[in-house]
Amino acid sequence: MPHIYLFKVEAPAVARKAQAGQFVVIRIDEKGERIPLTIADWDEAEGSITIVFMEVGTTTHRLALLEAGDFMADFIGPLGLPTHIDKFGTVVCVAGGFAVATIMPIARAMHRAGNKVISIMGARNKGLIFWENELRNVSHQLIVTTDDGSYARKGLVTEPLKELLEGDEKVDRVIAIGPSIMMKHCAKTTEPFGVKTIVSLNPIMVDGTGMCGCCRVLVGGVTKFACVDGPDFDGHQVDWDLLLARQRIYLDEEGRSLQRWQSQHGSGG
Ligand code: FAD
Ligand code: FES
Ligand code: MG
Repeated sequence: MPHIYLFKVEAPAVARKAQAGQFVVIRIDEKGERIPLTIADWDEAEGSITIVFMEVGTTTHRLALLEAGDFMADFIGPLGLPTHIDKFGTVVCVAGGFAVATIMPIARAMHRAGNKVISIMGARNKGLIFWENELRNVSHQLIVTTDDGSYARKGLVTEPLKELLEGDEKVDRVIAIGPSIMMKHCAKTTEPFGVKTIVSLNPIMVDGTGMCGCCRVLVGGVTKFACVDGPDFDGHQVDWDLLLARQRIYLDEEGRSLQRWQSQHGSGG
């Protein structure tokens, strides 16, 4: 089962400016690659940023090995445009997998802005569920699903989402964050109902400041850089096939990198 880690990082300059929906780009050491991670929480008084990440490849494995008191070479942010927070009415926040951490500050900000917040969180199984109570505390209603039915309601997040859209209550906005395929299906679910659906795109990023072009996505037929024009976009306008294809460009290299690292350090590390 993949491991999910929560780190609190001392980064007062980032904590002073962080807003819901933004991210950081980190580099573990001089030779490490850069990876983007969402700002899951921040504490300006303490000067800390919380990141939550899932171990999927070399850099997240290496990150998981850091211990309290260790340093990272770079921790740059806050990057990206903050999520548009307003009083919309009823907002449905849908989170897939570790994106519960991404949606938390957004649900909280929507709640504080006076919206009725209905949250849906889904995971593959019970072991991957976290922050259930935290999300419940910033929602008027919380629906939990697991793909295998090992906890709460069995099924995908799109099922309760469709039921809410078909119900009596008018839904004014949907925020869907998680794996691209899940966001794509949430957008396809809301499209016939004409409910604006914001997704947080996660293409491969390098600099995170609009210079390398790596995070290029197509939205409404126009090329955008997710790091500076997003990461939030209108889910009904996103070219999902292009995004999914570009995310897989370096699968061979990523696989070889992980194998090399595991052969040097052991697969348990
Ligand atoms: P690799 O084996 O190198 O890659 C595994 C997969 O991760 C790749 O196939 C690719 O789809 C993706 N990936 C690889 N490198 C990058 C990169 N430089 N940028 C983006 N995706 C990449 N993950 C979390 O666990 N928690 C978060 O809060 C989080 N927030 C994100 C916010 C944004 C704006 C984006 C774009 C991505 C976010 N991710 C988050 C995804 C995270 O960046 C990748 O899981 C990480 O880069 C994987 O690195 P790796 O070396 O461990 O794995
Ligand atoms: Fe380089 Fe967006 S990550 S332009
Ligand atoms: Mg990598």
